[in-house]
Amino acid sequence: MIEIKNLHVKIADTDTKILNGVNLTIKPGEVAAIMGPNGSGKSTLSYVLAGKDDYEITEGDILFNGESILEMSPDERAAAGVFLAFQYPLEIPGVPTMNFLKAAMNSQRKARGEAEMTTPEFIKAVKGEASKLGIDMVMLKRALNVGFSGGEKKRAEILQMALLAPKFCVMDETDSGLDIDALKVVSEGVNALRSPERSFLVITHYQRLLDHIVPDTVHVLYKGKIIKSGGKELALELEENGYADIIGEAA
Ligand SMILES: Nc1ncnc2c1ncn2[C@@H]1O[C@H](COP(=O)(O)OP(=O)(O)OP(=O)(O)O)[C@@H](O)[C@H]1O
Ligand SMILES: [Mg+2]
Repeated sequence: MIEIKNLHVKIADTDTKILNGVNLTIKPGEVAAIMGPNGSGKSTLSYVLAGKDDYEITEGDILFNGESILEMSPDERAAAGVFLAFQYPLEIPGVPTMNFLKAAMNSQRKARGEAEMTTPEFIKAVKGEASKLGIDMVMLKRALNVGFSGGEKKRAEILQMALLAPKFCVMDETDSGLDIDALKVVSEGVNALRSPERSFLVITHYQRLLDHIVPDTVHVLYKGKIIKSGGKELALELEENGYADIIGEAA
């Protein structure tokens, strides 16, 4: 489903190389976790998957269901089913969350050549998903993420994910911002959306999140390369011993 092949990335218009040959395949239904020290390139990888244009791909390819997405705009990728949950969610003053969600859903439908959702259809869909996530409709009338607590931002994000029903979800989680409630929201939201057709790439620093979202595979990114891959036990090993051993082995 997602194949990242020998991906080399630098910051556009500079010589700063961030990713140095990342290889990673994520199968349909798989939850892959990426861990790694600060500055290893995890967020960069998520931005590149989403198509953010501050980066230049100098070598390699990203295939989504067998087709390269490198030439696709962020909107085209989203319409094809790629979803990126930001490490620092965007605040949009003046735009009620409801309006944002409706615009996001309809722009994707339009891009896929589908009919736009009517307001009653949309309200029904939002109410259904919001109640599952314990989100008060009053919160959705407020401007997107403005003044939302960390947990509320995460809820809004999972709601967005549930409504858009993407095929590939990339989640960049600084666990620092996640209190126990937010951790639960994220993990329960992800677990509810797990399905044989949907894949996840979860970026995290601590084993803690992976107690709740049990990954199928765990990969360690270091200096822009995956230096070790394994099953969920690899995250436990890292929690116990830190990165030093693995970095030593790879050196
Ligand atoms: N626009 C930029 N200009 C210069 N350097 C950048 C830019 N964006 C990222 N970098 C550098 O690239 C490296 C990788 O950054 P990235 O944010 O991908 O790391 P990360 O693995 O997500 O780290 P963390 O665990 O702290 O979130 C860092 O050294 C960072 O300073
Ligand atoms: Mg990061």
